[in-house]
Amino acid sequence: MTDRPPPDPSGPYPPGFVWGASTSAYQIEGAAAEDGRGASIWDVRCRTRGGVVNGDTGDVACDHYHRMPEDVALMTGLGIDAYRFSVSWPRVVPRGKGAVNEAGLDFYDRLIDRLLESGIEPWLCLYHWDLPQSLQDLGGWAARDCAGWYADYAALCARRYGDRVKRWITFNEFSVFTLFGYAIPWAAPGIVDRAQHLRAIHHVNLAHGAGVDVLRDLVPGASIGAIHNRQAVIPETDTPENRAAASLLDEHWNLAFCDPQILGHYPPQTAEAIEPHVQPGDMARIARPVDWFGLNHYGPIFAKADPARIWGYGWGDAPPDSPTHGVGWAIFPDAFRDELLTIQHRYRLPIVVTENGCGSPNGGVDGVGPDGAVHDPHRIAYLTIYNAAMRDAMARGADVRGYFVWSLLDNFEWGSGYGQRFGIVHVDFQTLARTPKDSARWYADLIRTAKAYSVGV
Ligand code: FCB
Repeated sequence: MTDRPPPDPSGPYPPGFVWGASTSAYQIEGAAAEDGRGASIWDVRCRTRGGVVNGDTGDVACDHYHRMPEDVALMTGLGIDAYRFSVSWPRVVPRGKGAVNEAGLDFYDRLIDRLLESGIEPWLCLYHWDLPQSLQDLGGWAARDCAGWYADYAALCARRYGDRVKRWITFNEFSVFTLFGYAIPWAAPGIVDRAQHLRAIHHVNLAHGAGVDVLRDLVPGASIGAIHNRQAVIPETDTPENRAAASLLDEHWNLAFCDPQILGHYPPQTAEAIEPHVQPGDMARIARPVDWFGLNHYGPIFAKADPARIWGYGWGDAPPDSPTHGVGWAIFPDAFRDELLTIQHRYRLPIVVTENGCGSPNGGVDGVGPDGAVHDPHRIAYLTIYNAAMRDAMARGADVRGYFVWSLLDNFEWGSGYGQRFGIVHVDFQTLARTPKDSARWYADLIRTAKAYSVGV
């Protein structure tokens, strides 16, 4: 094969390229104690000392549960094709299994109908981290039965919404909620235990496989994907200890879910450790064919040896001269381009970028100014260079079919509470007023231009 220069990345987007925005239930809905919703592990985490900065909770969040029509109107203003949201399991099945909650199910009926009337395609994610607390009390993901409880919940949603929803996502970011939930206690349920972490990895993989089967059976024409966060893991400094730390973190972060789900095997160190929890036939149960690969990406990770942590690795710092988001994450668009190409070559599936975006501290640059506007040039700069990196990857052969910005709204940013803002629409958490930021206008322009260009050529 001769080495040809890649085609021009400024060429038109492929026909049918999907432009979208993403959110998740716990981060925006609020109405935590309304209409029969059960408690989730995040309700409990928020009430645990040290669980969330300031003791913030998702009790009200963006109050999207009551303001949904206004939020769909904001999406219409952006001109997006698709909206990715998650269903709150404890809102529709308050105790996780058994009795269902009609009022909760109705909310998503109304949301889906409103989206479709507005010409926006619903992309439904079944799990964005808010496990019903009643299931945690039975062992949560460390219990093998959890895969079956998840499959029943997936079937409920498939039967209820499958007539109108064709884009389905089994899970959001498997490695984040398992690693931070069971090994490094930065998320619910905040357990630190190697065996529980390994079991959680395996049972979530089994749940994914069971979910794919249920969706295929119950939703004719379903297009099914899973969302993986993948980021290069770079040793903070190049020492043998840091290299070993980075290699194990890379398995837990980047490979422990994609590899078994798509290639049918665990990566080597994980395969050995997880073996006692694997039963005959499990790998075939996990590796069920999906239609596309969902990628969430923000920037690379720097790893270091940390003997105080249960797996011997911890989070290191980016090199001192790297540009960072307000959240402290490194800005490194080449790593995004390379990740897209790695995924293309390793997994050979169409890719959808299901999250990418830029955070900034509350009270900082993202406030409403005296002119009533929110000027966020840092976010526009970030989105510009990350979109260019994606185009570059596409020009080099990555089959990227869509891009969803994180996030539509400023929202409850997990352990950081309301201290970090990722929205392209500002939310005043006192009045709950929404104000599109400059980046919202920038995104609407990008979408308009991209569409005009693809149609025009
Ligand atoms: C991702 C999560 C999403 C949000 C962004 C900033 O890891 O999927 O909910 O918190 O990070």
